[in-house]
Amino acid sequence: MAVIALKCPDIEVAVVDISVPRIAAWNSDQLPIYEPGLDGVVKECRGRNLFFSTDVEKHVREADIVFVSVNTPTKTRGLGAGKAADLTYWESAARMIADVSKSDKIVVEKSTVPVKTAEAIEKILTHNSKGIKFQILSNPEFLAEGTAIQDLFNPDRVLIGGRETPEGNKAVQALKEVYAHWVPEERILTTNLWSAELSKLAANAFLAQRISSVNAMSALCEATGADVTQVSYAVGKDTRIGPKFLNASVGFGGSCFQKDILNLVYICECNGLPEVAEYWKQVIKINDYQKNRFVNRVVSSMFNTVSNKKIAILGFAFKKDTGDTRETPAIDVCKGLLGDKARLSIYDPQVTEDQVQRDLSMNKFDWDHPLHLQPMSPTTVKQVSCVWDAYEATKDAHGICILTEWDEFKKLDFKRIYDNMQKPAFVFDGRNIVNADELRGIGFIVYSIGKPLDPWLKDMPAVA
Ligand code: UDX
Repeated sequence: MAVIALKCPDIEVAVVDISVPRIAAWNSDQLPIYEPGLDGVVKECRGRNLFFSTDVEKHVREADIVFVSVNTPTKTRGLGAGKAADLTYWESAARMIADVSKSDKIVVEKSTVPVKTAEAIEKILTHNSKGIKFQILSNPEFLAEGTAIQDLFNPDRVLIGGRETPEGNKAVQALKEVYAHWVPEERILTTNLWSAELSKLAANAFLAQRISSVNAMSALCEATGADVTQVSYAVGKDTRIGPKFLNASVGFGGSCFQKDILNLVYICECNGLPEVAEYWKQVIKINDYQKNRFVNRVVSSMFNTVSNKKIAILGFAFKKDTGDTRETPAIDVCKGLLGDKARLSIYDPQVTEDQVQRDLSMNKFDWDHPLHLQPMSPTTVKQVSCVWDAYEATKDAHGICILTEWDEFKKLDFKRIYDNMQKPAFVFDGRNIVNADELRGIGFIVYSIGKPLDPWLKDMPAVA
């Protein structure tokens, strides 16, 4: 919305939320999320044509176009628990819009939703409309965290789905005009409602599938002596495949991939397509396998036990340049190591100790249910400490796990780190960012995902 305000000075944008502290933060110098470039955009438009407010009803009533971006968590109870999206927030937003509106409106689905949500929302709006006309559009968002502003300035495509009726087409055109302020016409795609909704789930599933494919190859590379970086380079040179999103890692994270695939799986099952559901489920299974494999590698390399050993965790966010920890592979890796009674010293330049403790004491999917935060478990508090420096984290440690590819980790003084660690000193690089040969020269035993194994690791028991 900030980018729309920046690129369309003739449009007034009001961002509304029921949370008073969140809106206060958006109106302050300390924005509630870390995203490179966002500060500058907000500063330029705030007070000009971008406003943040808790007066939800007033702004909805006055708007011509309402973007709904409420969260759609994974259901934890009832039908479809663990897979289906919970549309409670969406439904109440739609009822509120119908309730307060006094003029015709275009309602835009911005949240990722299961296919055919628009139909349900349309029913709520029209059955409660008191004669007001609503047009519903699907306009999924493809930005990635950490590069959000650049992605929005220069999107590969903008997708707008609408009803194929004269009123539907008119609404699609109206939204198209907003984006046409800065996006070239040929990149604004228009489709029917279901295609737009499904495209978002499909795009995320395809992206995640690429990572699971290369991660599956990484296991085979370790077993055979091939190097996954060389394999992905060679594979990506095929112009039909392309070079992006082929980096082997400890696993993908983030608020979208797993959730959207589970959603897709559920939709397939509901539509009587169990084979298709199984196919996509495998993308998540390989991701879980990759995280387990990493933990097993750490434990087996360190004489089959990490009990009471200090392990430094470098990076906790799900990727670099964000403080976001939702579904980060670091959670599962840390839980795995804690299960073997390791002591963890965690450093991430953007993640606070509170956040880490919360993540490690939560159950799966709790993060997307903001209402039931749990108390921290006493074990987690005792075994985990967070520090504000990589040197502090690695001091006296037996091993280092690199779980996020922060640029600053590439520039660390590994000689200094080695001198202050217990010996033998191990580095487990879950993002393939360090120069393994250089580190071996210093004396480290190094594990890099999908690379020929260190002689030390070869002698250790096979990894399950
Ligand atoms: C993703 C989609 O890219 C975006 O289009 C959609 O709108 C939201 O979901 P995001 O979750 O912000 O964006 O991050 P992304 O860059 O896609 O990375 C997801 C995860 O995959 C991260 O944990 C990242 O480290 C991992 N990843 C990515 C790999 O392990 N290897 C790769 O080659 C690329």
